[in-house]
Amino acid sequence: MIPSSSKATMATQGETRIWTKEGSRKREAVRRMFGEIAPSYDRLNGLMTMSLHRKWRQFATGLLQLKPGESVLDLCCGTGDFMPLLQKAVGPTGNVFGADFSAPMLGIAQQKGQPRLTLGDACEIPTRDSIVNAVTVGWGIRNVPDADAAHREIFRVLKPGGRFVSVDMARPRNPIVRVVSETVFNTFVPALGALFGKTQAYAYLPKSTQRFKTREQLEDSMRSAGLVDVVHHDLLLGNVCVHFGRKPEGARSQ
Ligand SMILES: C[S@@+](CC[C@H](N)C(=O)[O-])C[C@H]1O[C@@H](n2cnc3c(N)ncnc32)[C@H](O)[C@@H]1O
Repeated sequence: MIPSSSKATMATQGETRIWTKEGSRKREAVRRMFGEIAPSYDRLNGLMTMSLHRKWRQFATGLLQLKPGESVLDLCCGTGDFMPLLQKAVGPTGNVFGADFSAPMLGIAQQKGQPRLTLGDACEIPTRDSIVNAVTVGWGIRNVPDADAAHREIFRVLKPGGRFVSVDMARPRNPIVRVVSETVFNTFVPALGALFGKTQAYAYLPKSTQRFKTREQLEDSMRSAGLVDVVHHDLLLGNVCVHFGRKPEGARSQ
């Protein structure tokens, strides 16, 4: 028989090792985690990236070549940090929508004045086919339980000719850079999270990056969903990667 104190420890470890979960268990654990960190998310994101996330979002937005009047869905929009930049690119006649499955994250986006927010899952986007000119995902695909399903959904909601970008953490290709980055990442990020009382949630970030699909696997997943012109761009010595793809003109949703 397992002593009750050991059971408690095992339960706690099982609960906190979110990066090891798959499928619906991952979905629920990730949703709960973002619900818990929502109030401190923006502050920690700024500190962890030294505000470089703004530059990376600008780079990703530039790849979309948005025009005034176009519509964009920011999927896994969280606290809505991507949305003002997108709104600026599509101008006052364009529309930017945000969707996320965490009500507390969306609550922060709402407090920041974002008007078009929907509670919804990236693997089952609550909208009809071929509806937006572009989809963005910032640090979201790594968190969904089924990236292939999310890519299929993104393809479905894009209009023909529509563009998709995803920005996320990645593992540097250069082995020396990778060892240095992962050492820093594995210690600095959880330590910073600990300052905000969120050690486990911020241990998830490096661990989930190390278990995530490679750049090439993500590209294959995007192509399998039907996207074309698929490319990736490494930033910050390959610690951040931006993927781009396009729905072909004349394509119908699969
Ligand atoms: C790291 S945050 C990124 C937030 C925002 N995109 C940004 O750039 O700051 C990841 C977000 O993805 C959301 N998310 C994770 N899995 C999701 C899913 N299956 N469906 C919808 N949202 C999801 C989380 O709730 C969280 O808000």
